[in-house]
This record gives sequence, structure tokens and C-alpha cells, in this order.
Amino acid sequence: MAAQLCVALDGSDRDWIVTTARRLGPQVDWLKVGLEAFTAHGPDLVRDICSHGPSVFLDLKLHDIPTTVARAAANCARLGAKLLNVHAGGGRAMMEAAVAGVREVDPSGTTKVIGVTVLTSLDSTALAELGTDHRSEMLVLRWAELARTCGLDGVVASAREAADIRRVCGPDFLIVTPGIRPSWAARDDQRRIVTPAGAVSAGSDILVIGRPITAADDPRAAAADVLSEMKS
Ligand code: C5P
Repeated sequence: MAAQLCVALDGSDRDWIVTTARRLGPQVDWLKVGLEAFTAHGPDLVRDICSHGPSVFLDLKLHDIPTTVARAAANCARLGAKLLNVHAGGGRAMMEAAVAGVREVDPSGTTKVIGVTVLTSLDSTALAELGTDHRSEMLVLRWAELARTCGLDGVVASAREAADIRRVCGPDFLIVTPGIRPSWAARDDQRRIVTPAGAVSAGSDILVIGRPITAADDPRAAAADVLSEMKS
């Protein structure tokens, strides 16, 4: 499929979130509700955003025992989210339970479940502190492959990892990529950034972009610029 754009609605101000969703809704493929917005406004906000047109990615990164994750993932699907995620570090039983929970609510499989592999905020020192001497690139690939065998539809991964994941997990595995910065945008707190064109050519399917669009003077124009760069 052609790469799609997902705008991250990161904020705690409900009016700002809903206004931004309304303004950008007609232009983009996906809107993302993450932990900040969800912990401020809960399921009602998700239902509200789901009514604005584009599909909703509910980015809660679930991680708990299998039964709890199965029920929470089913609840995410019931809210209308078409994409949700769980930590691959929760292991096989948890990932399989998440898929089973979502399939009970949505047997047709339109709601996709993806895995979060190694958080990009963890460097080799942090991983060593956590007791693993594996390099993060290796863990990402291993966990992506495990996620695929558990029935997950894809993973969240940086564009730098996308080509290897595509090679190992095949053409139909969704690769959802944050850390995108157009050449004209500030880096903010992102470190290992890739341009929209770079992410598309690395094989990312859905590009997640927040502040370069939502904090722009004209968010609609910024989204249009990103979309045209993705198409080029
Ligand atoms: O504003 P910005 O484009 O940096 O937003 C990126 C979004 O992607 C945020 O919602 C952030 O939580 C999410 N994200 C990320 N890096 C990851 C996983 C998720 O930036 N590794």
C-alpha cells in the first residue's frame, strides 16, 4: 500500500485536541491518541476523535498479564480504534491474547494490533542496566519476528530499522514509524530522525508525525507539505 500519514494528537487540552482533529481530519489517513491525551480525557475522547473521519491509532502500549491485555485490547477495539499496540516484551502468550481479544470484538480483522519492540529511548547503556547485552538492532528484529509469529499485524519501528524488518517479516507486515522530521522542521526531543521521504523509501507503511504538523503556524499546510514529500 502507499505510505499513509498519522498525526499524533499529543496534548492534554481537550479543545485543542478536538479542534486539531477536526482541522486535519479531512487531510490525513490516521489520527493518534496516546497516553497523554487518554489519561486526561479517557475513552470519551477516543469515541469523539473516531467520529472525525480518519482511522484512530490508540497508542497505549499495553503490557500486563495475558488476560488483562486481552480484555484491555478488546476494549480499545470496542472504542472504535483501528490500530492499537502492545509491548512485544510482554511475550508470546500476552501478544497472542491481545490478538484473540481484538478478534472477539472484530472477527473481520479490520482492527490491527502491532507490537512495540525496543523503545527508541533505550540506548545500549540502558539495555545493559536492564540485564541484556544484546544490541538493540538484534532485539528489534527478534521481537518483530516473534510478534509476527504471534499473529500481530506489524510493529512500531524507527525508519532505520524498517528495511531489516521488511526483509525478515515480509511485505504484508505493517511498519509504523515515528521520529519523522521534514527538513524544514525542528528536531524537538527526537534524536534519530528521518525525513518523510526517507521513511517511505525505507519501507515504512504509516508515518507518525506530531509537532512538525500540530505545532506549525498552519497545521493544514504543514500536513500538505509532508503528504507531497511522501508522494514524491
Ligand atoms: O511530535 P513528534 O513527531 O515527535 O511525535 C511522535 C509521536 O510518536 C509521539 O506521540 C511519541 O509518543 C510517538 N513515539 C515516538 N517514538 C517511539 C514511539 C512512539 O516518538 N519510539
